Amino acid sequence: MSTTLIAPSILAADFANLQRDIEMVNQSQADWFHIDIMDGVFVPNISFGMPVLKAISKHAKKTIDVHLMIVDPDRYIATFASLGANVLTVHYEACTHLHRTLQAIKAEGMKAGVALNPHTPIHLLEDIIQDVDLVCLMSVNPGFGGQSFIENTYHKVVALKKLISEKGAATQIEIDGGVTNKNAKQLKDAGADVLVAGSYVFGAQNPTETIAGLKELTR
Ligand code: DX5
Ligand code: ZN
Repeated sequence: MSTTLIAPSILAADFANLQRDIEMVNQSQADWFHIDIMDGVFVPNISFGMPVLKAISKHAKKTIDVHLMIVDPDRYIATFASLGANVLTVHYEACTHLHRTLQAIKAEGMKAGVALNPHTPIHLLEDIIQDVDLVCLMSVNPGFGGQSFIENTYHKVVALKKLISEKGAATQIEIDGGVTNKNAKQLKDAGADVLVAGSYVFGAQNPTETIAGLKELTR
């Protein structure tokens, strides 16, 4: 059985020591960099934008997983590709023409992801799942790091896993928000493929060991 991928969220890094924190992830057992882009419209917070992603890409030696919490993401797909994004995730709730958006992401050579807010049901993906490389299940309301995990997420992972297998899709399941050593194993057992962890990793005394601990729990 394959191990779960761990994706530290740079939102919780020390921006005054960004290169140090990127190197920590490079040297650790982490698999991906998770990059949260917020526009202050789709979510009630603004994180960082293109110049910061460009700087991260220069040093990051692992897959760059960009999570767009923005309205009208289509406007920026080509830009994010040019800045080094490998996976580009848009929000279901922000896309009127989701099928078109996913095709545009793939046309730029990236994996196409769809994120669902905690209140958005899995069944809305029934007619699109085969076109989705990754579904990001939000286990907190997007906009901020450091929030508590919403327990209903376990049911959503199971329902999503069932939908993926029924449709014969090859979609990865990512969990984003409130991931810690308390829920990592249960999420893996429910069917998660990728776990995003921000404050749990960067708020730890030893982030490298914390990442190793998450890998061990989900092996
Ligand atoms: C929330 C972001 C998350 C966040 C996770 O809007 O999408 O990626 O950084 O942070 P933690 O792990 O602290 O909940
Ligand atoms: Zn995120």
